[in-house]
Amino acid sequence: MEIFYEIEPLKKRLAQLRAQGKSIGFVATMGALHLGHVSLVEKSNQDNDITAVSIFVNPTQFNNKEDLEKYPRNLEADIHLLEENEADIVFAPAVSEMYPQPDNRQFEIGAVAEVMEGKYRPGHFNGVCQVVSKLLNIMEPDNAYFGQKDYQQIAVIRTMVKKYMPDFKGKIISCPIKRESDGLALSSRNQHLSADQRVSALLISKTLFKAKEMSDKGATQKELVDYIKKSIATDANLCLEYVEIADKDTLQPIKGDLPKNAVICITVYDGKTRLIDNILL
Ligand code: PAJ
Repeated sequence: MEIFYEIEPLKKRLAQLRAQGKSIGFVATMGALHLGHVSLVEKSNQDNDITAVSIFVNPTQFNNKEDLEKYPRNLEADIHLLEENEADIVFAPAVSEMYPQPDNRQFEIGAVAEVMEGKYRPGHFNGVCQVVSKLLNIMEPDNAYFGQKDYQQIAVIRTMVKKYMPDFKGKIISCPIKRESDGLALSSRNQHLSADQRVSALLISKTLFKAKEMSDKGATQKELVDYIKKSIATDANLCLEYVEIADKDTLQPIKGDLPKNAVICITVYDGKTRLIDNILL
């Protein structure tokens, strides 16, 4: 596995590999890697000759300074895990390498970026667009892999690429959520949970699974939302930030009857840790 900290040598190496006819898959991460990230690496390995992974805690997407400072970092363990899982290239730049000058670009993504995470984390998706556009320009991958754990993020990235990177030839590929055997969605933030909070966190996925079951049996949108709110409220550690049932593509609220292929997105504070999850109906 080759490790790069700077853009120019990385681009040179990727150009060499491309000239040898190798296809390139790309997985963007903020490190603190877990089996959710590994599932993207595995998919990329299946589809491409070369898998490149970026590890960069992107400051511009954190709207909360404490969250940025607290974000878990462990480059050595990450490199070890990527080596074990047969990634080929790791790119771990410093902030000054990615942002030699402040990035003042404002991305106009529209409605898909304005609901849910866009509403509760102002500026977050603009930061995601800044870093992902830079990373895609550096990597020029044939395929780039993103997890449905961050369901809205994929929709935002697809829109950003369409609107701002018309020459980008690669495919944006969305991959299923990887969960613990008990259902909890894997997340770098799970490390912050105490044993007691970890037990509470389980209620989030349990509630979503039950809501899907209710929806399969014909429950209305209101019945689902009422059930989810009531269920989360039963645990003293949990505090619901929002639950939305949205169109799976536009992410806009659904009026009237639930269509097939809606998505339920939920954000819950477990103590001070902000956890997100979602399920397709
Ligand atoms: P990060 O949270 O590290 O996630 C990196 C990628 O792994 C994202 O595409 C995310 O959706 C995916 N992922 C995380 N947990 C997952 C799980 N349990 N199952 C499947 N995929 C999972 O998302 C980001 O970083 C950043 O916003 C980034 C795109 C790297 C831009 O900075």
